[in-house]
Amino acid sequence: MGNLCGVLFVCLTYVVVYLQRKGVEIAAELINKGIAEKLDLSKFPSLNAFRVADLGCSVGPNTFLAIQNIVDSMELKYKRQGLGHHLPEFQVFFNDHASNDFNQLFTTLPPERRYYATGVPGYFHDRLFPASSLHFVHCSYAAHWLSKMPKELVDKTSPAWNKGRIHYSNSTVQVRKSYEAQFFKDMQRFLNARAQEILHGGMLALVLPICPNGTLHSKVFINKAVELLGLCLLDMAERGIISEDQIDSFKF
Ligand SMILES: C[S@@+](CC[C@H](N)C(=O)[O-])C[C@H]1O[C@@H](n2cnc3c(N)ncnc32)[C@H](O)[C@@H]1O
Repeated sequence: MGNLCGVLFVCLTYVVVYLQRKGVEIAAELINKGIAEKLDLSKFPSLNAFRVADLGCSVGPNTFLAIQNIVDSMELKYKRQGLGHHLPEFQVFFNDHASNDFNQLFTTLPPERRYYATGVPGYFHDRLFPASSLHFVHCSYAAHWLSKMPKELVDKTSPAWNKGRIHYSNSTVQVRKSYEAQFFKDMQRFLNARAQEILHGGMLALVLPICPNGTLHSKVFINKAVELLGLCLLDMAERGIISEDQIDSFKF
């Protein structure tokens, strides 16, 4: 069962990375449109450097794709407005936790890139940049990660105790509400921080995995997969391979 759990985890990782890439590709069209139609260059007079941040960038390559798209869209906009010779330089801030493998990120940066790359370690729920310093913030498949697991989920006396599970999928209403409340607090902090960092007239592109209206959370592919992973861990606990308390360390 331990092996099955490992295999499932590896397969899940590949599928998730593939889905995230698809998400970045689909969002690219909306971002192109947003930059073409909504970004007002007159808000940034005498612009020398257009500053872009990708929050929760991980180690690549999806982040490179997303950034390339933003740079290409800006170039196109300048050309269409007959301003091709006034194109600003681009500075890109790659953000993730300090424990992210920034070495992998920086050693695989596309050699033909047309931007200056900088690493910014830290939690995006807090301020990461000076006030009014960013023109464009991109964040894909990252803002749904909670800043912490609500403590009632591991409190055996709480009605929201998520016994034997690592996630809210197919769990109780109390458990789901507990996740929702934490997500609400986290998003407020995230948006407050960005509201201070993004220049007036700048843009935020937020790509989030969602559950379409009317669809049960437990029917969404990724939730099903995580539920299966949780069941493997539970089975391992029942066979004495791990303790039941160890399941708590996988909760997210
Ligand atoms: C699922 S990956 C997405 C990577 C990439 N953006 C993509 O679309 O493929 C989520 C990334 O967000 C990062 N992350 C999660 N919470 C974060 C936080 N509070 N601050 C900074 N990075 C965070 C994780 O470390 C991880 O690298």
